[in-house]
Amino acid sequence: MIRHVIRQERSGGLWLIRDQGRVLSVGPASYRYLEALSAGDGYLLAESLRAVAQEEDSELLPLIEEHGLHQRAAWDATRWVASKIAADQLPEDATAAPKRIYFEMTRQCNLACRSCFNASRLALANELGREGALEVNRQAWELGVFEMRYTGGECTTLPWFAEVIADAYARGFYISMGSNGVWSEETLEWLPGSGIHWVIVSLDGDRETNDRVRGRGSYDSVLRGLRMLAGHSLRTRLNMVVARHNLSALEAVARVAAEHGVDSLNLIPLRPYGRSLREMVHEMFNQEDFYTFIREVNRLRGLYPCVEFSTTIDLLDPDARTSHDLIVEKKTTCAAGVEACVVGPLGDVYGCSYSPASFPDSPDQEGWQVFVAGNLRQESLGDIWRDSRRWAVFRDLERYKHQKCLSCGHYQVRCSGSCPIMAWHELAHAEGSARHGEDIARICDPYCFADLLTAKGTVARR
Ligand SMILES: C[S@@+](CC[C@H](N)C(=O)[O-])C[C@H]1O[C@@H](n2cnc3c(N)ncnc32)[C@H](O)[C@@H]1O
Ligand code: SF4
Ligand code: SF4
Repeated sequence: MIRHVIRQERSGGLWLIRDQGRVLSVGPASYRYLEALSAGDGYLLAESLRAVAQEEDSELLPLIEEHGLHQRAAWDATRWVASKIAADQLPEDATAAPKRIYFEMTRQCNLACRSCFNASRLALANELGREGALEVNRQAWELGVFEMRYTGGECTTLPWFAEVIADAYARGFYISMGSNGVWSEETLEWLPGSGIHWVIVSLDGDRETNDRVRGRGSYDSVLRGLRMLAGHSLRTRLNMVVARHNLSALEAVARVAAEHGVDSLNLIPLRPYGRSLREMVHEMFNQEDFYTFIREVNRLRGLYPCVEFSTTIDLLDPDARTSHDLIVEKKTTCAAGVEACVVGPLGDVYGCSYSPASFPDSPDQEGWQVFVAGNLRQESLGDIWRDSRRWAVFRDLERYKHQKCLSCGHYQVRCSGSCPIMAWHELAHAEGSARHGEDIARICDPYCFADLLTAKGTVARR
């Protein structure tokens, strides 16, 4: 069984510790040291010893011991992924391959939430299907992708879902699943021993608030699933889509998380796409609401210390981090297209689902061009990922990041900066169908409340 994956990057490497779901960054010297250890199955051969003796890294050695990489057995359970491309040909503005893939396997869903950004309900014609899904696993494995996140639609409704998970497990991925938690008896029984490491379930409020958006009975189903999961060692998270309609129910969800031993609560500000654009856009936070929301998050952090809270533009976060994620860092920008990508149900590859990319029949041609990088039915994942020109909206920060972010004290401290997709949405609203990719950098994230914070005298800390 694979316990570690070490992958070469343009400079140095990345190391997945699979049972922790954590990816560490190793510098060039440490990478060479690990490479030498790998060649000697845990021992430094005499010729390597001379070459790397100067390069020992005080942080690396304790990790090597902790994970037994000074012994052969650990190397038998380690996958080494050297780049097939010369390191200096790898992207300068992104990781060598995605660290995580969000695989939206289908649009089929057993719910039809009013908020759903990709308007899931019925499968699309010509979805990748079982064979296509296994091919996505294969290509991701070849590139050394660390985490596969299976989502949709509702991936648990696919009759061959367990087969894809078994394949992913054997390949050594860290496996996560984004699900609505409305599970059949079979799924409930299968899940704990399925090989999935991290189960992420949606809950949008107390019973009444949640069921108004996600459908009657969904709250009770989720709680039943959480009770079952609480008896197992799987990592769990709740996802809550937040807007005005459920701000007052945030504490109820935090309590559910705490009472069921859920590790983290991820709060996703409502994104105006798909069904939410038609049905819930009026509930979106304005800047004042967002500031109130962030204050509430911080209050709840104090009340429920066993739950890790994460959200975007988290300007009061006492930990002052751009990411609470153990795999993506979001150092200079969001992970979309830089550290992670989405594979859609028809094989489209894109940075983020909250964009025209989610709608293959969208009349928004320019949106499609700006946000979609390629399709797996025509090209390989590696070729698509490595061609930075196609990912400019996410990778070319000089051109697409808002000027205000570049000089903002929160940037790269506790905020990854303005979201280009929110800017796109603002452009669409302000200027109707006249959209221009180049204008994205003109619009700062409508959720950004940094000005309010400054006005109230809170100083950004570097
Ligand atoms: C599209 S769902 C797919 C997985 C699964 N069916 C579920 O509901 O969790 C993925 C995540 O996006 C969230 N989501 C849905 N609509 C959203 C929106 N308009 N803005 C932000 N997040 C949204 C869902 O609540 C869920 O946590
Ligand atoms: S949010 Fe999830 S559960 Fe709800 S309709 Fe969309 S895919 Fe289905
Ligand atoms: S201006 Fe707003 S969005 Fe940009 S970095 Fe600062 S806080 Fe974040």
